[in-house]
Amino acid sequence: MVSGFITFEGIDGCGKSTVSRLIGQQLQNEGLHVQLTIEPTRTWLGEAVRRSYTEEINPYTEAFLFLADRATHTDWIKEKMDHGNIVISDRYSDSTVAYQAALFHQKLGGSMPEYLKWLQEVSQPVIIKPNLTLLMDIDPEVSLARLSGRGKMEKFETLENLKLVRKNYLTIAKNSAHFKIIDASKSLEEVTEEVWKIINQEL
Ligand code: TYD
Repeated sequence: MVSGFITFEGIDGCGKSTVSRLIGQQLQNEGLHVQLTIEPTRTWLGEAVRRSYTEEINPYTEAFLFLADRATHTDWIKEKMDHGNIVISDRYSDSTVAYQAALFHQKLGGSMPEYLKWLQEVSQPVIIKPNLTLLMDIDPEVSLARLSGRGKMEKFETLENLKLVRKNYLTIAKNSAHFKIIDASKSLEEVTEEVWKIINQEL
């Protein structure tokens, strides 16, 4: 029984949703049991989270909603792993650290590294450590251009914000051995091939 936990992270428009789906398919083709999942989740908790970011809301309220959704999601992930699945999550804990630290800094002032540290600490009881985290790194100008055809922009999808989020992601990656940074400005084929190679090496 092979189990494992892989997360995909990156700023909006980096392509992680498409790549994670393709990788999930490839692992399934190898005969492995794969569970693809996503945050915010498609449960009522995820609904509450999504509602919060369409409104102007206290940034702490918003951060705790992401954590509330994650706590229950983590239970689900553990159960799937116990039953021999490879769980692939499109966003997980590092999204909260990278995005909410940027948002706190912009809304409340104060130091981004301090918020980052606090968010990591407060997350500890509700998360498990992934075996592998793939950070799809891309310049926000490129990712926003990709998103511009998609209609209404979400609250987090501004150039100023995504620059800070990217910076946070790179800081987190530098300090975590299970992070691999992928150049997500390359073509979908190239990116998927690189991720596939890493997964074969690491798992
Ligand atoms: P996204 O991956 O775009 O999901 P969906 O397609 O359901 O909208 O995530 C939504 C936004 O929420 C995105 O801009 C990133 C942000 N986000 C956080 O700020 N913190 C978090 O913990 C998560 C999971 C997402």
